[in-house]
Amino acid sequence: MRYAVVGVGYFGAELARIMRKNEDADVVVVYDPDNGEKVAKELGCEAASSLDELVERNDVDCVIVATPNYLHKEPVMKAAEHGKHVFCEKPIALSYQDCDEMVSACEKNHVTFMAGHVMNFFNGVHHAKKLIQEGVIGKVLYCHSARNGWEDVQPFVSWKKIREKSGGHLYHHIHELDCVQFIMGEMPESAFMNADNVAHSGEGFGDEDDMIFINLKFSDHRYAVLEWGSAFHWPEHYLLIQGTKGAIKLNMLDAGGTLKVDGKEEHFLLHESPEEDDDRTRIYHSTEMDGAIQYGNPDKIPPMWLHGIMVKEMKYLNDIMHGMEPDEEFKPLLTGEAARAAIATADACTKSRYEGRVVKLEEILQ
Ligand SMILES: NC(=O)c1ccc[n+]([C@@H]2O[C@H](COP(=O)([O-])OP(=O)(O)OC[C@H]3O[C@@H](n4cnc5c(N)ncnc54)[C@H](O)[C@@H]3O)[C@@H](O)[C@H]2O)c1
Repeated sequence: MRYAVVGVGYFGAELARIMRKNEDADVVVVYDPDNGEKVAKELGCEAASSLDELVERNDVDCVIVATPNYLHKEPVMKAAEHGKHVFCEKPIALSYQDCDEMVSACEKNHVTFMAGHVMNFFNGVHHAKKLIQEGVIGKVLYCHSARNGWEDVQPFVSWKKIREKSGGHLYHHIHELDCVQFIMGEMPESAFMNADNVAHSGEGFGDEDDMIFINLKFSDHRYAVLEWGSAFHWPEHYLLIQGTKGAIKLNMLDAGGTLKVDGKEEHFLLHESPEEDDDRTRIYHSTEMDGAIQYGNPDKIPPMWLHGIMVKEMKYLNDIMHGMEPDEEFKPLLTGEAARAAIATADACTKSRYEGRVVKLEEILQ
């Protein structure tokens, strides 16, 4: 299986390094106007001089897209139109319409579209889904996620901090929203969002909201509250799942999972090993940045826990490319369902923020 990677910065370069270690997998070409030549030299592959040159090649089976968020659409559309399978980093797009066009182009050209919603590859997320399926915590009534921290003035303002380019925390850190929808088994019926930039405007800052509060209403009297931001000096990063018989907490800060039933607690790993969990905990408690908010360049290596997940994700993609049937759990990642659902809800939240009202999902989907 021959891969091409479009955008080889912090994440794309590492995806390429990881993918080529898989069985029967090679990265034959990369395209990146800034880092292409350098990463191609390291990988021993070619550097295309344009996106068109890359997608027109006959020796490429699958294109991995890891450009900045606002630049995902063109490479995905062009790859699909040239009959190449696609893996696209999150957030797939910054609007439902773009996301739908991208997924539809893959459907029309009969190529796989895999969404890079990496949280689904966490050991702890898989375990939580299994516990829920087995009825251990009963019916899920409520999910609460928080992904909060504090950001100081930046030496230079990355595209990740510019709303138009990254979509801000809501789109850029869409992981928790995607995960909540996986757990609820559907999109919400309606969304309400309050958001603001309360402490990060002016020189050395972007223009994204630094406080975001979302309230989602699901069918059958079920709810979720999600918060994100970079204006919180008391950092938090967790997903709490409350059911009729018990609860599950996935703690990304003091990394680990906890099942609480009948007042008793049972602990499980968030990642693959105690070392990976400890490494993530150490990073959060030090001055280092978490991998997901790294201001990337190809020489910056993701932390151990994130690297472990990227290995799982790239192996999964390569296995799918080699004809493996997807597990039920991962099907929405491969049908466009998870991509569309996450962006649709993010769009409903955005509409709500600017119109100051509850927005029904059907307003976005029509
Ligand atoms: N799943 C995760 O946990 C995770 C973590 C980090 C990044 N990401 C995603 O990966 C993508 C890349 O993020 P990053 O951290 O590597 O950013 P980055 O800025 O380090 O890398 C982006 C690269 O794209 C290149 N680029 C810019 N315009 C391009 C174009 N038109 N065509 C080709 N290449 C172009 C840049 O030169 C740069 O090398 C983003 O979508 C981001 O959301 C996902």
